[in-house]
Amino acid sequence: MSADSLSPNAGYAAHYAELGAQMPASMEAFWMPFTANKAFKAKPRLLASASGMHYKDVEGREILDACAGLWCVNAGHARPRIVEAIKQQIGTLDFAPNFSMSSPLPFVLAERLAALTPGKLNHVFYTNSGSESVDSALKIALAYHRARGEGQRTRLIGREKAYHGVGFGGIAVGGLPNNRKWFGPGLPGVDHLRHTLDIERNGFSQGLPPHGVEWADELERVITLHDPSTIAAVIVEPISGSAGVILPPDGYLKRIREICTKHGIVLIFDEVITGFGRVGKAFASQRFGVTPDIITAAKGITNGCVPMGAVFVSEDIFDAFTHGPDSAIDLFHGYTYSGHPLACAAALATLDTYAEEQLFEKAIDLGDYWQQGLHSLKGLPNVIDIRNFGLIGAIEFAPRADAPGARGFEVFRRAFEDGQMLTRVTGDVIALSPPLILEKEHIDRIFNVLGDVIRATA
Ligand SMILES: Cc1ncc(COP(=O)(O)O)c(C=O)c1O
Repeated sequence: MSADSLSPNAGYAAHYAELGAQMPASMEAFWMPFTANKAFKAKPRLLASASGMHYKDVEGREILDACAGLWCVNAGHARPRIVEAIKQQIGTLDFAPNFSMSSPLPFVLAERLAALTPGKLNHVFYTNSGSESVDSALKIALAYHRARGEGQRTRLIGREKAYHGVGFGGIAVGGLPNNRKWFGPGLPGVDHLRHTLDIERNGFSQGLPPHGVEWADELERVITLHDPSTIAAVIVEPISGSAGVILPPDGYLKRIREICTKHGIVLIFDEVITGFGRVGKAFASQRFGVTPDIITAAKGITNGCVPMGAVFVSEDIFDAFTHGPDSAIDLFHGYTYSGHPLACAAALATLDTYAEEQLFEKAIDLGDYWQQGLHSLKGLPNVIDIRNFGLIGAIEFAPRADAPGARGFEVFRRAFEDGQMLTRVTGDVIALSPPLILEKEHIDRIFNVLGDVIRATA
């Protein structure tokens, strides 16, 4: 299907025409993010509508959503309460500034969110995305040290293979070689710990990998190199998704927490994908019993319906900003759309939906069944590892000698075209993170489709 054949008259896009929607005359103008534009536009995959566990593509084929859109539609698609809240809000208050002005909703939502977060993370700073949450969190950590007289703490520590979005702060603390290759050296004063992927020792572990807690001790070594008094913050994803689902070895996060506490370093958990029920609690922090000083979130906060992110900040950090004169701005940072009314309305309805349907518990209730289904793929051709936790899963394939990533992409493509199922591909890893409304029959279907597709992929 080429761009030129995208008109409903060409026989494609039947479902889309039915919806009365407009098809593009050309696909040239939209420069798609993180996409091989030429290949995509030569053979597009276009979604047209969605409901519950499914999308429909423009041709009307029903597509099972095995990755919650992009790790964000945790309550499933087009949930009536959320749809209604957004419709109501847009006709009532479409926009209100939050710089020295506001409206009631961001306050209502912040109270609701603070009640969900672990420990004393009771203050909420709104952003519009995970990337903005990460950059905001790093800036808050730097300003916090400055506010309490330790402005020399400017160093930030991330990890190899980490994905913290696409802002300059996020790519600096992140650990993806492509960001270094394409966008230059980034922020100064950033160091990295090793990642925790170890297929040799931990391959096919069910749940948290048993080996690797000792890698947390690397943090002591890196801190000592720079001197602890220069380190502002350490940022980690409790579970990383974008680099192919990398899990923390049992006990690892607890040890990272202990080292940060010992040296007065702010610990940031980037929970952009693990937040809002993905692993059986509101946040992974609660599931792992480890409380950071700051949590970054986005995605599931509005069920993906309206862009929104948030930074949850501890009382201690927030308090450091409260000692100036009442008339002084306490944090010199913010976005035009921070706390946008539409996003707040969507988020409140999303939180109601999560609570009413007890969706945060789904990853515990279905965790064993999910794990069993996923690990039943062990032994299929080219499968070199399977990883899971909560309602997250990953299957890693041996790369083709001449084309790393090609096998993973082919499984993704075949799952969509032949299996009518949306998954996420990253390199030679297929990542799964279904909406939390899924039932056992969906789990069966996901792993049946994947089994067939993996067998068919050389
Ligand atoms: C851990 C983590 N941080 C940050 C981001 C960036 O979020 P966004 O794409 O909303 O900017 C992502 C996106 O997947 C993520 O997984």
